[in-house]
Amino acid sequence: MPEKIDYDAKIPNNVNLGDDRRLQRALEGWQPKFLNWWGEMGPTLETHGVYLRTAVSVGREGWAHFDHVNVPDYRWGIFLAERDADRRIAFGEHQGEPAWQQVPGEYRADLQRLIVIQGDTEPASVEQQKLLGLTAPSLYDLRNLFQVNVEEGRHLWAMVYLLHAYFGREGREEAEALLYRNSGSPDAPRILGAFNEETADWLAFYMFTYFTDRDGKYQLGTLKESAFDPLSRTCEFMLKEEAHHMFVGTTGVDRVVTRSADLIREHDTLDIGPRGGIPLDVIQKYINFHYTVSLDLFGSETSTNAANYYTAGLKGRWQETRRKDDHQLTDGSTFLDKPNEDGTWSTDEVQTLLALNLDLRGEYIADCNSGIKRWNRILADAEIDFRFALPHVGFNRQVGLHAGHHITPDGTIVDQATWESAKHRWLPTTEDLAFVRSLMHPVYERGKIASWVAPPTHGINQKPFDYEYVYLT
Ligand SMILES: [Fe+2]
Ligand SMILES: [Fe+2]
Repeated sequence: MPEKIDYDAKIPNNVNLGDDRRLQRALEGWQPKFLNWWGEMGPTLETHGVYLRTAVSVGREGWAHFDHVNVPDYRWGIFLAERDADRRIAFGEHQGEPAWQQVPGEYRADLQRLIVIQGDTEPASVEQQKLLGLTAPSLYDLRNLFQVNVEEGRHLWAMVYLLHAYFGREGREEAEALLYRNSGSPDAPRILGAFNEETADWLAFYMFTYFTDRDGKYQLGTLKESAFDPLSRTCEFMLKEEAHHMFVGTTGVDRVVTRSADLIREHDTLDIGPRGGIPLDVIQKYINFHYTVSLDLFGSETSTNAANYYTAGLKGRWQETRRKDDHQLTDGSTFLDKPNEDGTWSTDEVQTLLALNLDLRGEYIADCNSGIKRWNRILADAEIDFRFALPHVGFNRQVGLHAGHHITPDGTIVDQATWESAKHRWLPTTEDLAFVRSLMHPVYERGKIASWVAPPTHGINQKPFDYEYVYLT
């Protein structure tokens, strides 16, 4: 498998697309539909060149090339990580057998479903972020937004390639449907809830890239373990691109907290709204919201589907190969806290195999806590007493065993009336959202930055912050 990407082809790729004329024609038929979708549902702001990275190889070193690109001319393509000819299945009932290069008939429907669900999230986030370019706090941020957008577009290509190449007519129909469904559409919404929420302001964008893209990282991590080798290799390369999205989220929230801390110290008050900053309690409410809608993406705590996918080898655990157990999970159990109607908590013992969603969610939560730690360090260094925290896992949940219960951020089960009267303290209110939106004015002058966020400590690809990342005229 060539590591070098063929950019002379109409669809850049490293899968020898030119050798399969039928597949090539089918994908070339989908390409203009994708470009139409991008034109309609992609970024609203018109630009004349954005300093973007494009994949030039899939190898570890130097895979990215940076240059100003006219966004609609971005070379979206199909890039799979290098094939390991000796790769064997690491878990489940096929453990030890060679990884599959084709889809086994018995798993066709399940694999297609997994690919469609993953594929559906990728264009959804582009749709959610469509308007953000109109209010970017700096050219640097504007560039990062477009980078995330074009790569989510490429992730759609990654899933569409698998659907076209391995799932026949049904796969091609699913590829069409990925462009037909739209985020927030009343008639044909995106499959998962978090991808139908608005990303209405830049604090929401940083939170989305921190919490919701991070869910993507963990989902891709489980698919990277898949016995279906083309899926595994696709996800491996997507994870490289995904790392930048999380960088945008982590450092974006860092910069908001840094700016708020500066304003608090400068004016000796937590009430920094009138000074053009975002108050810490509003940031906490955004954390509460974006974290909990992202937790919903992990599905029910116990799941026979997840167990079946695991046993079949379709979807592994996070870092499956590094785990020191039998990779079968037929015995062993884990504990699960569940809320009761009478306001108490009880603990259930469940089979490990049935609790795989819980396992993945646990890895994700630990990772999310690293962000909370670093944002609290910024506050500690500024000698401000306020501390951020992740809310209880049962707070504000619509999916799984907490759904239908009213649970406070500290894990107390309350009745609906108590919840309704207190939720304005925990989740962004209409006023909070309107206030944050009122701060969102575009700052498109080189080297300038909006009032509510600190500049980044480093530019992109060793360029300075005042580099002309985006040509607007
Ligand atoms: Fe993605
Ligand atoms: Fe992403």
